[in-house]
Amino acid sequence: MALTNLALTNLALTAETPRPRAALKDLCISFPRPDLPPLEVVSGISLDVAEGEFVAVVGPSGSGKSTILRAICGLLKPSGGQVLVDGKAVAAPPPQVGFMFQKDALLPWRTVAENIRVGAELGGTPAAEQAAQVARLIKLLRLEGFENAWPKQLSGGMRQRVSLGRLLAYRPSLMLMDEPFGALDYQTKIAMGLELLRVWEAERRSIIFVTHDIEEAVALADRVVVFSARPARILAEYKVHLPRPRHMRAMRSDPAFTELTEAIWSDLALPD
Ligand SMILES: Nc1ncnc2c1ncn2[C@@H]1O[C@H](COP(=O)(O)OP(=O)(O)O)[C@@H](O)[C@H]1O
Ligand SMILES: [Mg+2]
Repeated sequence: MALTNLALTNLALTAETPRPRAALKDLCISFPRPDLPPLEVVSGISLDVAEGEFVAVVGPSGSGKSTILRAICGLLKPSGGQVLVDGKAVAAPPPQVGFMFQKDALLPWRTVAENIRVGAELGGTPAAEQAAQVARLIKLLRLEGFENAWPKQLSGGMRQRVSLGRLLAYRPSLMLMDEPFGALDYQTKIAMGLELLRVWEAERRSIIFVTHDIEEAVALADRVVVFSARPARILAEYKVHLPRPRHMRAMRSDPAFTELTEAIWSDLALPD
């Protein structure tokens, strides 16, 4: 009886405190420099990202945002602290992590559909199911009619949609996105943000979304983490209590949206 109770207590505890998808524990990163002390880029960042949570990271340019993503996907070894993905210390790139950068990394010699299929192949979708998966993503990302187009024939926004399709086809449980819409014009950027939210609401994955755009961070995320200038520390963290699905126009006139963006503006000490 006592044993059963203990087991139940443990279960309850696990249910209340689920393991975070990703955890940074007092992460420090510095780069050696010849004839100079090491360049300290990240200084003691601790951050948990829950299952299905959308976390945005904002911070000034050069503050170490991309560096942190590289540490999370195992491309860079931290000089101190730890990165855990699904409870395991990251040594090599963890297979459950996928990433997307500002510049698309599409294969120029493959069509739209073939580029998305690369994600399905790498993600281990059985060959017989890949075509259906690709077709579903083409539809989801409104790329119908462009299945056989080459990347160079597409606009920047469409290329990023294909990149997103490839990322989703890979089915990562944690998506790292480094200013993915940063090179797009304003309208396309808003449209892509909404597209991402639509997809994320349909198939909840954990996302760490890096941007220098405060409004974009608040518009998309469940939580916004504000980094200081280099070396990166966490200056502030905000839960975003705006209703979902998010509607850009209504949101921009919501006082909660304005308050949050103003607060982050002050944290970053941007001019009045
Ligand atoms: N491999 C590296 N070697 C030396 N310095 C680096 C390396 N990677 C990044 N840095 C430096 O770390 C700082 C933070 O870079 P980064 O993470 O790209 O900033 P952010 O993405 O916030 O704009 C910059 O000063 C950059 O020059
Ligand atoms: Mg960067």
